[in-house]
Amino acid sequence: MTIKQLLAADSAKENIIVNGWVKTRRDSKEFTFIELNDGSCRANIQIIADAASPCYATAVTLTPGTSVRIEGGLVECPPGKEQRFEVRASAITVYGTCDAEKYPIQKKKTSDEFLRTVAHLRPRTNKYAAMLRIRAELSHAIHKYFRDNGFIYVHTPVITTSDCEGAGQMFQVTTLDLNNVPKTPEGAVDFAKDFFGKKTSLTVSGQLEGEALAAGLGKIYTFGPAFRAENSNTYRHCSELWMIEPEAAFNTLAENMELAEGFIKAIIKDVLANCPQDIDLFARFVNKDLLPSLANITDNAFERLSYTDALPLLEKENSRFETKMSWGVDLSSEHERFLVETYFKKPVVLHGKPSTVGAFYMKLNDDGKTVRGMDVLVPRIGEIIGGSEREDRLDVLLQKMRAQGMPEDPYSWYIDLRRFGTVPHAGFGLGFERAMMLLTGVSNIRDVIAFPRVPGWAEF
Ligand code: 4AD
Ligand code: MG
Repeated sequence: MTIKQLLAADSAKENIIVNGWVKTRRDSKEFTFIELNDGSCRANIQIIADAASPCYATAVTLTPGTSVRIEGGLVECPPGKEQRFEVRASAITVYGTCDAEKYPIQKKKTSDEFLRTVAHLRPRTNKYAAMLRIRAELSHAIHKYFRDNGFIYVHTPVITTSDCEGAGQMFQVTTLDLNNVPKTPEGAVDFAKDFFGKKTSLTVSGQLEGEALAAGLGKIYTFGPAFRAENSNTYRHCSELWMIEPEAAFNTLAENMELAEGFIKAIIKDVLANCPQDIDLFARFVNKDLLPSLANITDNAFERLSYTDALPLLEKENSRFETKMSWGVDLSSEHERFLVETYFKKPVVLHGKPSTVGAFYMKLNDDGKTVRGMDVLVPRIGEIIGGSEREDRLDVLLQKMRAQGMPEDPYSWYIDLRRFGTVPHAGFGLGFERAMMLLTGVSNIRDVIAFPRVPGWAEF
């Protein structure tokens, strides 16, 4: 049985078997006490080996990190203990010993920076195991929210020939021999000889394919990996991330904002309700302000703020910003966090940025200079969601693509969606790791994913 099952048992049991890793061992004259964890929940179970038991000789040799199989009886703890049950061991089998001197997971060596270098072992720590269980719970909450609201889960390709964000920050995918690259007569790389017969990359977003699927299914969402080759070494950027992207035919920008707000609130509540013990670890040891800051999000209506209205608020504070704001400048995290943490003191949905900083697919407003894009900004992180109502008019889309110097050929299928039964539609992308930072209070994105990928780092 797992430790989670054992601790939730309704009565004592004979002849149980539990597997796990030793956390600590404490010896007294008559007993050895072992704290055992198996990852199924935050709590350990206490194993007691009696000096009179044949397993005692083994028990007193166990060091932290050792993997064991324990046979014994599940018995009620004496009253006053935090837990109801403990295990009286009758037999102990060691699967693998653990050299206490060399084992990197030590009580005193727990800095996040150090643990990143042993990311293969950090799932053994309370904090990283809790983080990984919350990731699972959050994934489940996300699927549940969309399923309950009539969105159909779709899978979009990881290998793609189009650059969704048009930012040129893609990882190329090739089977060409890089030491002997085939060239065209003009001297360019001959991608016709590459695996797919053309230049391909890892996707930065499933949105464009998602729009095609929404144009047949109505309401869809994706939940998949995205890859960004942007050279930003910040607390909130990673090169491989998971993104959730709903897309809804017939939705306008206002409905997109409603969806995003309801969605964020629902998944926070769901996770808080379903893994209180793991969240408690973060609220206690990582960020004392975690629970109030999450309540601030679930209990307040998000501010709706246009870029035009945000600008004077930010310009007035230019002396405090590294990047000075003026019309046409995109917000950075310092501006986003000022609006959320200092000015409004609650989440903000910022919309209507100048078309010059918006992506090509964002619908142009009637003023001809701003677009129906939106960013959801939250405390500690800034942007957590980016989305928009999409440009659904063929002529305007083509005009915008030409203005941005985009080739039409790779996007001909995307343009087709505006030729055959175009509809207003809108969607957004939630960065899963940023949502994890929000939920746990962890301040570096490298510590909310099992094996982070950032510029210069792709170990494990
Ligand atoms: O704002 P972004 O770039 O929007 C899109 O990709 C749209 N195509 C989404 C859509 O409308 N379907 O990215 C969406 C979110 C961001 O708000 C952020 O939370 C996250 O994805 N994100 C990253 N998270 C971590 N590291 C990075 N390098 C990220 N880039 C984006
Ligand atoms: Mg964005």
